[in-house]
Amino acid sequence: MDNKLNFTVAREDCIRCNACIKDCPHHIIGYRDHYPDIPAEREDQCIRCQHCLAICPTGAISILGLRPQDSRPVEITPAVEPDALSRFVRGRRTMRQYRRTNVDRRLIDTLLADTAHAPTGGNTCDLTFVVVDDRIVLHRILEALIGGLEQAIEGKAELPEFIAKAVHAYRHLDTDEIFRGAPHLLIASAGEKAYCGDADVVIALSYFELLAQSRGLGTTWCDFLKFILDLRPELGDLFGIATDRPYRAILFGLPAVQYARTVQRDSAARIRTITA
Ligand SMILES: Cc1cc2nc3c(=O)[nH]c(=O)nc-3n(C[C@H](O)[C@H](O)[C@H](O)COP(=O)(O)O)c2cc1C
Repeated sequence: MDNKLNFTVAREDCIRCNACIKDCPHHIIGYRDHYPDIPAEREDQCIRCQHCLAICPTGAISILGLRPQDSRPVEITPAVEPDALSRFVRGRRTMRQYRRTNVDRRLIDTLLADTAHAPTGGNTCDLTFVVVDDRIVLHRILEALIGGLEQAIEGKAELPEFIAKAVHAYRHLDTDEIFRGAPHLLIASAGEKAYCGDADVVIALSYFELLAQSRGLGTTWCDFLKFILDLRPELGDLFGIATDRPYRAILFGLPAVQYARTVQRDSAARIRTITA
């Protein structure tokens, strides 16, 4: 990435409203010649959040070579009707029965591009999305994982009961408790610069889950994979991820079932109020 910010103001459009100056998280935008400016010596404090570009009411600001006219407008009225969002969140379910067919790659790309808009601590944006876009490939990976676990079992390694059970179910009961028969897997993995990496990967996949379900796909968080890779970190090579960095996995695909109603969990979390 080019290190220079290329912060520019179209003077004919700037109404000098201060919006960009007030919204900058590190307060590095000031005035020069009566127009907003980022002094060269403060450029390295920019976290590249693009809030200056996003907040400018007249589209006068460009940064990082990005043109305001290439952004999508944000509707003033909520883009999502609140009751509809509430129903959607309550109706989100973990899918454990999938159709044996691939999701269109263009839809996957749309979902990944949307997911890249999820927030990251300090706007480090240091995430890698590893996606398995073909069910045959995911099946091969599953075979390799099962093979790795069987080696561990033969080597008399102590495996947690649920993992040994999943290996048995796969080999003898034609049941996939690891990938749940899903055709696709997405791993979000954080790089060295992500100092909130644990949160970043979970937030990204939480966004992905909702985006995917809004488009009729099913999703399954897959911490099962984490348990396996904790036991056999070298199997992380199957995905090209460093298992000593934060990562999380989610399965997805076309659902084979539909839920008729929500579950009932309004009181599932304890609520403690700190009040006057
Ligand atoms: C962090 C996390 C890890 C999970 N790992 C798995 C998993 O490996 N396999 C699985 O079938 N479900 C997994 N789940 C799904 C949970 O079991 C599920 O969310 C929970 O039972 C509630 O069901 P619901 O999502 O339909 O509300 C996971 C969920 C979360 C949040």
